[in-house]
Amino acid sequence: MKTRTILILIALISFGLGVHADETSCEICHSKLKGRLSQPVTQWKNSIHQQNDINCANCHGGDPSAKNMKAAHSRSKGWIGKPGPIQIVKLCGTCHANESFMKKYDPNSRTDQLKNYMTSNHGINIMKKEDGRAATCASCHGAHDVLKAMNPRSHVYPENVVDTCAKCHGDKKLMAQFDISGNEVADYKSSVHATALYKKHDLSAPTCNDCHGNHGAAPPGAASVEKVCGTCHVMNQKLFDESPHKEWDEIGLRGCVECHSNHAIKPPTDAMLSTDKGVCLNCHDSTEPAFKTMEAMYKTLTGLETKLMETREMVNNAAEKGMLMDDAMLKLQDAKTAYIKSRTATHKFSSDYLDHIAKAALVDVTNIQKLAKERLMEVTKRRTSFYWFGGLFFILLILLGLKIRSMEK
Ligand code: HEC
Ligand code: HEC
Ligand code: HEC
Ligand code: HEC
Ligand code: HEC
Ligand code: HEC
Ligand code: HEC
Ligand code: HEC
Ligand code: HEC
Repeated sequence: MKTRTILILIALISFGLGVHADETSCEICHSKLKGRLSQPVTQWKNSIHQQNDINCANCHGGDPSAKNMKAAHSRSKGWIGKPGPIQIVKLCGTCHANESFMKKYDPNSRTDQLKNYMTSNHGINIMKKEDGRAATCASCHGAHDVLKAMNPRSHVYPENVVDTCAKCHGDKKLMAQFDISGNEVADYKSSVHATALYKKHDLSAPTCNDCHGNHGAAPPGAASVEKVCGTCHVMNQKLFDESPHKEWDEIGLRGCVECHSNHAIKPPTDAMLSTDKGVCLNCHDSTEPAFKTMEAMYKTLTGLETKLMETREMVNNAAEKGMLMDDAMLKLQDAKTAYIKSRTATHKFSSDYLDHIAKAALVDVTNIQKLAKERLMEVTKRRTSFYWFGGLFFILLILLGLKIRSMEK
């Protein structure tokens, strides 16, 4: 009984320390070498592959029990040496596209990476054109330091993806060879999405692969990469599809991107509807009905904003003067939500529709203003009665003083 417990303890401790029964000759010899020959061992030791006993020979072939280099690097034992781009993709695919193999490790494993990769410009460049300059599986995941995708230190973790793509897409010289501007990374870093991801740590904001897909050209469910905005901004897309612009596709216009751009998306403001700088002017001139729509929408939204600001001031003012304004503060939140809805409503590009939605916000605002006015009036009333009482009290004091003096006399 006792020996069994001890054995189990030893097994648990070795497991905890990551001691694996049989270190291969590849690891032993390579860990004593230098630079590019030993680094793979150090990196591999912390990888997801090491944790699952996928070792050097599983990827490079050779004989992991042979002590001398010639025998270990034996071609007759399947030795491939350092794989080239095409070999790398085939190598990773051998396991990762094999469903029955991968399910043994995790029943939820996906095995569609290779299939999707083959449809991407990266896959076409490497496998069909045999060009070699685009990304292989190892360009994005690493060769030896591969980690679970959701590990915060992984090269493909949301906050690290940009740097991974930037190795090539930030290299203007390389990108020029393919007629790609190479501005994508810098543009993205200036966007509302990058601010949300890096400053607010909002993992629901998109990084490169959320719009372009992890492996394919565009993620499943999005007909093309321009359509991907609507998968998150559902309401904006729905309204756009009901608007006079719904047929843009057919004339080669690119949806959301026409007004917001794709990478350098700025925080939208009312200026996007102003008569001098409005985005509508890119396609419509001042003689078209669209111009009137733009003008009217601008007026509604800026009007609403001014009213909302005024109201907030009134409520704060009353609260500072000691009135209980909790109910008004709550209603102010509702009005703010209604205002945000109105901004979204612009995407039907109809001033009637916007006015209809903005009405809810206006009703809220009017009610709050009424409430705040009443409370402020109460403050005035209380002050007035305070002065009245104060005055009366003062007169009483004087009378009392006079009385005392006359009594003393
Ligand atoms: C006794 C030492 C020794 C053993 C055992 C050994 N290697 Fe090597 N390996 C070397 C040396 C030295 C080099 C560099 C010289 C060369 O490429 O011939 C090298 C090079 C390599 C390279 C790079 C080849 C290239 O083209 O750059 C790979 C990959 C490699 N080994 C993998 C393995 C694997 C896998 C095993 C186990 C099956 C293994 N090695 C076993 C010593 C060893
Ligand atoms: C998951 C597959 C995988 C495993 C496991 C793996 N390698 Fe590699 N190895 C690769 C790939 C892919 C490359 C090519 C990387 C590149 O082109 O940048 C490579 C390259 C190398 C090189 C050449 C490095 C260079 O910069 O020239 C050496 C040496 C090497 N591996 C040794 C090892 C050793 C030793 C182990 C075990 C400790 C090991 N590899 C485990 C996939 C693997
Ligand atoms: C252009 C970069 C890139 C290339 C090339 C690439 N991947 Fe990925 N891979 C990613 C990203 C990004 C993720 C997902 C991260 C996430 O889920 O947020 C991922 C996720 C994965 C996962 C985790 C499971 C999953 O599907 O989400 C596996 C396994 C994987 N990739 C294998 C491969 C294989 C095999 C290849 C080559 C055929 C490859 N990858 C090529 C970027 C790449
Ligand atoms: C000999 C089989 C084998 C080869 C070859 C192989 N892998 Fe793996 N890989 C695995 C196994 C097994 C796991 C662990 C799966 C798990 O835990 O769900 C794994 C895990 C991964 C993960 C983490 C998956 C996740 O769920 O986040 C990535 C990424 C990955 N491998 C990429 C690669 C890349 C890139 C290559 C080629 C350089 C490669 N693999 C080659 C077997 C292999
Ligand atoms: C190893 C370098 C490398 C890495 C890393 C890399 N790419 Fe690429 N990518 C390229 C090259 C080169 C091309 C052009 C291929 C061609 O046209 O033959 C390309 C093409 C593309 C294209 C198609 C552009 C077009 O219109 O032709 C997209 C989109 C893209 N990459 C996105 C990404 C994303 C997202 C990442 C990171 C997750 C990434 N790439 C990582 C080298 C890379
Ligand atoms: C919010 C979605 C989104 C994000 C995030 C995003 N892209 Fe794009 N990207 C697009 C759209 C849309 C296009 C335009 C496609 C078209 O015109 O056909 C595009 C085009 C591209 C192109 C082709 C450009 C050309 O000049 O041909 C590359 C390369 C690219 N993106 C790389 C990246 C990289 C790298 C990142 C991360 C730094 C990234 N993208 C982030 C949506 C996005
Ligand atoms: C993966 C989900 C996702 C995708 C895809 C996506 N977005 Fe976003 N978007 C977000 C999130 C999250 C925010 C940040 C909200 C915040 O913090 O205010 C945001 C913010 C914005 C904003 C600023 C909103 C504001 O009130 O300041 C605009 C404009 C925008 N996105 C447009 C786009 C466009 C255009 C595309 C397609 C090219 C797109 N988004 C694709 C999730 C997404
Ligand atoms: C990228 C070009 C483009 C931009 C930018 C654009 N539109 Fe349009 N708009 C069109 C096209 C094309 C039509 C359809 C024209 C037709 O059928 O006569 C259209 C039609 C309309 C219509 C239907 C009435 C009409 O003139 O036929 C309205 C209203 C409209 N747009 C409003 C706007 C507003 C408001 C903006 C700015 C917020 C805007 N548009 C920005 C291209 C654009
Ligand atoms: C014709 C131009 C145009 C197109 C096309 C367009 N937008 Fe907008 N968008 C605007 C304008 C103008 C505003 C700013 C309204 C304001 O604040 O005054 C805006 C604001 C936004 C906002 C911030 C307000 C909100 O709804 O939270 C988001 C997010 C947004 N757009 C996403 C999208 C998405 C997603 C698409 C594609 C389905 C899209 N836009 C298509 C012109 C456009």
